[in-house]
Order: sequence, then structure tokens, then C-alpha cells
Amino acid sequence: MVGCSTLRKVPRASLYNGLAIVAAALVLLATAVLPVSAEDAAPSVSDQCLGCHGSDGMEKTLQDGATLKLHIPGDIFAKSVHSSIGCTGCHSDVDLASHPPADKEIPSARGFSITMTQICSGCHADKFEQWQSSIHAALVRSSNPAAPICTDCHNPHAVIKGAAASIEQIPCKKCHTDIYTAYLGSMHGKARLKSADSFAPICTDCHSAHAVQPTSLGQGPDAACSGCHADLLESHQKWLPNAALHFEAVSCPACHAPKAKRKVDLMLFDSKDAQPLGSEQVGVPLFEASSKSDSKGIDAQTLATLLQTLNRSGISGKTVLRGRLEAATGPESHMLTDKSQAISDCRTCHSSGSQPFQSVTISVVEPQGQRVGYDVNSDVLNSVVSVESVGGFYAIGGTRIKLLDILLALAILGGVGFAVGHLILGWIFKYLGLYHPAIGGHRVDLHDPPGDEGQGPKSA
Ligand code: HEC
Ligand code: HEC
Ligand code: HEC
Ligand code: HEC
Ligand code: HEC
Ligand code: HEC
Ligand code: HEC
Ligand code: HEC
Ligand code: HEC
Repeated sequence: MVGCSTLRKVPRASLYNGLAIVAAALVLLATAVLPVSAEDAAPSVSDQCLGCHGSDGMEKTLQDGATLKLHIPGDIFAKSVHSSIGCTGCHSDVDLASHPPADKEIPSARGFSITMTQICSGCHADKFEQWQSSIHAALVRSSNPAAPICTDCHNPHAVIKGAAASIEQIPCKKCHTDIYTAYLGSMHGKARLKSADSFAPICTDCHSAHAVQPTSLGQGPDAACSGCHADLLESHQKWLPNAALHFEAVSCPACHAPKAKRKVDLMLFDSKDAQPLGSEQVGVPLFEASSKSDSKGIDAQTLATLLQTLNRSGISGKTVLRGRLEAATGPESHMLTDKSQAISDCRTCHSSGSQPFQSVTISVVEPQGQRVGYDVNSDVLNSVVSVESVGGFYAIGGTRIKLLDILLALAILGGVGFAVGHLILGWIFKYLGLYHPAIGGHRVDLHDPPGDEGQGPKSA
């Protein structure tokens, strides 16, 4: 039959219509011929659906030219958590009397999925709401075709209990493959692979599964660390002067992913409400233009001019830059190791020309919340012109202040205890008026008041 040339010209869906009808007819024939009890005589609705949709290879051509696979494996569905609600638990719009419709056009598989997943909210309203607050949903609303909806993470016809929460099947790995690989090599990943009972976190413990937030929200997932690791400030304070400031200016992975490259990221902030500045703000497109026109990245003079332009626009408060020392890329943020390998050598950051200060980006936040980084010439950290703009951030030794280099070297090498060295330095900083010089008299505080490390719930 398939080899018959007249059938080839028939559109695919019609062919399958034909096959499906034959299949349905066979089902009817079988029930008519075989001696069956009264209950068995009427197959369940799901069985009827599967009478057609259980056939391998069934598909439909969509308006955009793609094919939608219409085959639903019945055995897998039977084992899924949703078998109890049956096909019409979700496909309540399918009326067998008029199905398949002769002329139902579906523009695209993505559009069909987005519409269909509205149905999930009927029974899982909580998850639906959480998802709607996520960066993923914001991206879907802005028509990003790569951002996940419910069914990208849960195959509705095959959901089994607990699968999404396992390290092997965690759905995030489909799209964030590099991060998943980096994570598997981390001490958390290894602990978790060794034993599923480990308390070590998987993706969702740090980011949540549904209400995934962008990293532009300040310290972002760092806050999750303190949910499991108590008394961080105290334990770091023992050897790290002003640990609270370090926590604010240095991301945890910058020290705990020792193999990572580090960089300084300068994020535009509105000093009035300490909110990251969105890219809709007047002037931000200038960053794009400027960074494209100079292969070494935006230079100090340009940066200063751009900030003046932003501040003149008068839309909001003053625009300031918040500096933060971080692992250079997303995957590198996940290459965490045990504490014996963590960076404790002050010179990694506090030495002239140290690596983290050679790589600088400026980031603006897209309306959906992702950060977009533009390369900046590392001179901005040393230049007198831009001192005012990057005033909220500097590290002794790493950047421009040579006098303090020497003092720090004394504190470290001269056998002066950190505590003493720290007091002296702190005093000198304040005396010289260099201590956190903030622009316009405001210091941009990353953490809104309660964001204090070590204060979260302590579960492990
Ligand atoms: C007689 C065979 C047959 C039965 C029974 C059947 N379907 Fe279909 N179904 C089809 C065919 C053929 C198509 C493709 C229609 C097209 O090409 O436009 C289809 C398409 C669909 C689609 C894709 C969207 C659309 O409307 O094109 C869904 C969803 C669907 N069926 C669900 C179901 C459900 C749920 C049941 C049971 C309640 C069911 N079907 C029963 C043959 C069947
Ligand atoms: C938990 C809800 C749910 C149940 C139960 C369910 N479906 Fe679906 N179905 C969906 C969603 C959502 C889509 C949209 C496609 C996607 O996003 O994966 C879909 C799509 C389909 C399609 C189009 C092909 C595709 O995969 O996109 C067919 C055909 C279909 N379902 C048939 C069935 C049949 C037959 C059953 C019962 C055996 C069933 N469905 C049970 C939610 C469900
Ligand atoms: C008609 C109600 C209903 C609809 C609609 C529905 N579900 Fe479910 N869902 C259930 C039931 C019932 C369970 C099983 C709950 C249990 O056993 O605790 C479940 C369980 C789940 C689970 C849990 C699996 C686990 O690990 O325990 C996931 C994931 C899930 N559904 C996803 C979806 C998605 C995605 C959609 C939309 C495509 C959807 N559901 C639509 C009723 C529904
Ligand atoms: C980015 C991937 C992702 C998306 C998108 C997603 N989920 Fe989940 N979902 C997960 C993961 C991972 C789990 C595992 C359990 C956990 O960590 O909460 C899960 C668990 C669940 C559970 C079981 C919760 C429990 O208490 O056991 C339900 C129900 C569920 N999701 C429904 C949905 C619905 C409905 C949507 C769409 C609004 C959705 N999910 C979107 C990843 C996702
Ligand atoms: C131990 C906690 C933790 C775990 C586990 C974790 N992350 Fe992260 N994630 C972070 C931190 C911290 C950042 C960086 C935030 C920052 O620099 O502000 C991050 C950043 C990200 C980013 C943004 C990267 C970028 O380019 O800016 C993505 C995407 C991400 N994680 C996905 C994942 C996925 C997928 C998994 C699981 C394979 C995972 N994360 C596991 C803590 C975690
Ligand atoms: C279907 C693909 C897909 C899946 C599955 C997925 N994501 Fe994403 N995710 C994206 C896309 C696309 C973005 C936007 C990234 C971008 O534009 O750089 C994103 C962004 C993120 C961000 C924000 C990064 C930033 O720049 O601030 C985090 C965090 C994140 N995802 C975590 C997760 C976690 C955790 C999971 C699993 C529960 C997951 N994602 C599953 C596609 C996916
Ligand atoms: C869900 C709880 C949880 C979260 C969230 C979490 N951790 Fe962990 N962490 C653990 C557990 C459990 C271990 C011990 C793993 C093992 O068995 O080796 C661990 C181990 C560590 C160690 C090694 C300690 C040692 O003694 O060598 C460091 C460092 C660490 N985590 C840092 C972090 C950072 C940084 C974050 C946030 C980005 C974070 N953790 C988030 C549970 C968590
Ligand atoms: C300046 C570098 C640096 C920064 C920033 C840093 N750490 Fe550490 N951390 C270390 C070093 C070095 C050790 C090992 C100290 C030791 O062996 O006693 C350590 C130890 C730890 C330990 C194991 C000991 C304990 O306190 O339980 C955990 C967990 C930890 N850090 C988590 C974090 C988290 C979470 C952050 C971010 C909020 C962070 N660290 C920021 C360098 C750093
Ligand atoms: C991963 C990089 C990194 C490492 C490692 C590091 N620091 Fe820092 N440190 C910084 C940054 C960045 C700042 C500046 C924060 C700011 O000014 O906003 C800073 C600030 C300081 C300050 C000024 C604090 C104050 O009270 O104003 C002192 C003192 C200091 N570090 C000493 C040390 C010592 C001693 C060590 C080693 C035990 C060390 N740091 C390790 C990055 C680092």
C-alpha cells in the first residue's frame, strides 16, 4: 500500500487519517467479533485515542513546514503519573465525534505547546505561578524560542514521579549543557553522584526549578549557599579581613572555583533605588555602539562620557557602577571545589597587575532580566578619568593605589597579624577619604537590608 504511487501525492496527514480510520475500524471490528463482556465492549477514551495515536510514525505537517509527531507511546503513558487523568484530562477539547478535524491548521509546534501548557495551570496552579515569575517565562513572553515552558522540562505524556529531581535527568542539562558538565565535576556534583541521599545541591537547590531568577539580581544564587552553610561570615572572618565586604565585592565562586578565570564586572545601577539599570534607559545603546567600535573595549574616557550622558538624561537618580569580582563565565561559576583548594592567597587579587583586573566587562540588564556584558578596557580601573565612575569598587594592589599595595605587603609579609593590618588599612582608607568613595555621596549597596550571609535557614 505504501508503495502505491497514487498515495504519494496525498498530503501526509490525510494519509494518516486514512490509516488511522482503518486502525479505528479494525478496533471496532475486533470488539464486534470477539465474545466480550459488557464492560470491555466500550474501550476507554484513552484507549480509543491510542488506537490511532499509538501507531508509530504518525505525524502532521504544520504551517511552518515542520512536522509534529502525533505518536504517543501507550506503554509509557500507562506508567506516567498522568495515566490516571487519561488523555482528555488535558485534551478536553478533543471531541471524538468530530476528531480528527479535517482542516485544523497548526502554525508551529512551539505555538501549539505554549497554548497547550496553559492547561497545566488547572491542576498545578502553584508551579504555574512560580514559573510565570521566572526569567524563563519572561523570555517566553518576549518570544525567545529557546526558553523553557512546562513541556520542555516535563514530557506531559511520560512524566514519572521524581524523575525531574534526579541529577541524571535534571531537565536543565538539555539547554545549559556546559554548566551541567562543570557542575558534575564540582564537589557538590560528585557528592550527589555518589549518593542520591546527599544533601549536596543540584541546579534547583540553588536556582529553584520554576521561579528561576536572573543573576543580575545582585548576589543571586549566592544567597542559596547560606541556606545550607551556616556561619559563613564567622568562619571566613578568621582569616579574611572584612569578610562582609569581600562577600559583597567578590562572588563565592571567584574563590571557590580555583581553576576559573576571574573578571571584574561593572553593572550599571541606579543610585536612587539601587536597582540594576535596564537597557531601555536612554543612553545605554551607546554602550553597544562604543564597544563595537573599539576592539579593546570601551575606554575610560568613553565610559566617563557615557555615564555623564546617562546622568544628564535625568530619568532617574544617578547612574553608578557596582563592581564585582566574579568567575569569568557561567560554567566557571560552577567549577566549585572543596575548601582545601579554595583561594586564600591574597595576592591572587591584591597584587599589581593581577589577573582578575585584566578582564573587565560592563553589564546592562535586558528588560527580561539577563545581563549583557560589554568588554571594557581594563584601564578604566586605573584611570583618573574613570575613577569617579568606578569609585564604589577597588581592590588594594589589584588596581591603582600603589601606596596601599605597599601597606598590604607589609601587613602580609611583615608578620603583622591580619587583624592589625586590617585595622591600619581601614583607618588609612578612611583617613584618605578613599574608603568606598561613592558617586554622588551614595554607596550602592548590593544587598538590600536582609541579604546578610549566614542568616538564612540552616538545613545542612
Ligand atoms: C480515528 C483516529 C484518531 C483518534 C481515535 C484520535 N485521533 Fe487525534 N488525530 C488523528 C489524526 C489523523 C490527527 C491529525 C489531524 C490533521 O492532520 O490535521 C490527529 C491529531 C491530534 C492532535 C494534534 C492537534 C490537532 O488537532 O491536529 C491531538 C492533540 C490529538 N489528535 C489528540 C487526540 C486525543 C486526545 C484523542 C482521544 C480523545 C484522539 N486524538 C483520538 C487521529 C485520531
Ligand atoms: C498532562 C496533560 C496531557 C495528557 C494527560 C495528555 N496530553 Fe497530549 N499533549 C499535552 C500537551 C501539553 C501537548 C502539547 C505538546 C507539548 O508541549 O509537548 C500535547 C500534545 C499531544 C499531541 C500532539 C503531538 C505532540 O506531542 O505535540 C497528541 C497527538 C497528543 N498530545 C495525544 C495525547 C494522547 C493520545 C493522550 C493520552 C494517551 C494524551 N495526549 C495525554 C498534554 C497532555
Ligand atoms: C487534570 C489535572 C492535571 C493536569 C491538567 C495536569 N496534571 Fe500533572 N499531575 C496531575 C496528577 C493527578 C499528578 C500526580 C500527583 C501525585 O501523584 O502526587 C500530576 C503530577 C505531575 C508532575 C509530578 C511528577 C513528580 O515528580 O511527582 C508533573 C511534573 C506534572 N504533573 C506536570 C504536568 C504538566 C507539565 C502539565 C501540563 C502539560 C500537567 N501536569 C497537567 C494532574 C494533572
Ligand atoms: C526549567 C525546567 C522546568 C520548567 C520550565 C518547569 N518545571 Fe516543573 N519541575 C522541574 C524540576 C527540575 C522539578 C523537580 C522537583 C523540584 O525541584 O521542584 C519539577 C517538578 C514539578 C512538579 C512536581 C513537584 C513536586 O512537588 O514533586 C510539578 C507538578 C511540576 N514541576 C509542574 C510544572 C508545570 C505545570 C510547569 C509549567 C508552568 C513546570 N513544571 C515547568 C523543572 C521544570
Ligand atoms: C551551589 C549552587 C549552584 C548550583 C548547584 C548550580 N548553580 Fe547555577 N549559579 C550559581 C551561582 C553562584 C551563579 C553565579 C551567580 C553570580 O555570579 O551572580 C550561577 C549562575 C548560573 C547561570 C547564569 C550563568 C551566566 O552566564 O551568567 C545559569 C544559566 C545557571 N547557573 C544554571 C545552572 C544549572 C543548569 C545548574 C545545574 C547543572 C546549576 N546552575 C547549578 C549557583 C549554583
Ligand atoms: C529549553 C531550554 C532551557 C531549559 C530546559 C532550562 N533553561 Fe535556563 N535558560 C534558557 C535560556 C534560553 C535562558 C536565557 C539565557 C541567555 O539569554 O543567555 C536561560 C536562562 C537561565 C538563567 C538566567 C541566566 C542569566 O543570565 O541570568 C538561569 C539561572 C537558568 N536559566 C537556570 C536554569 C535551570 C536551573 C534550569 C533547570 C531547572 C534551566 N535553566 C532549564 C533555556 C533553558
Ligand atoms: C542544598 C544545600 C547546599 C547548598 C545550597 C550549597 N551547598 Fe555547599 N555543600 C553542601 C554539602 C552537603 C556539602 C558536602 C559535600 C560532600 O559530601 O562532600 C557541601 C560542600 C561545600 C564546600 C566544601 C566544604 C569542605 O569542607 O571542603 C564548599 C566550599 C561549598 N559547599 C560551597 C558552597 C557554595 C559556594 C555554595 C553556593 C554557590 C553552596 N556550597 C551551596 C550543601 C550545600
Ligand atoms: C576571598 C576568597 C573567598 C571568598 C570570597 C569566599 N570564600 Fe569560602 N572559603 C575560602 C577559603 C580559602 C576557605 C578555606 C578556609 C579553611 O580552610 O579554613 C573557605 C571555606 C569555605 C567553606 C568551608 C568552611 C565553612 O565555613 O564551613 C564554605 C562552606 C565556604 N567557604 C563557602 C563560601 C561561600 C558560600 C561564599 C560566598 C558567600 C564564600 N565561601 C566566599 C575562600 C573564600
Ligand atoms: C578573589 C579576590 C580577593 C582575594 C583572594 C582577597 N581579596 Fe581582599 N579584596 C578584594 C576586593 C575586590 C576588595 C575590594 C572591595 C571594595 O573596595 O569594594 C578587597 C578588599 C580588601 C581590603 C579592604 C577592606 C576594607 O575594610 O576596606 C582588605 C584589607 C583586603 N581586601 C585584604 C585581603 C587579604 C588580607 C586577603 C588574603 C587573606 C584578601 N584580601 C584576599 C578581593 C580579594
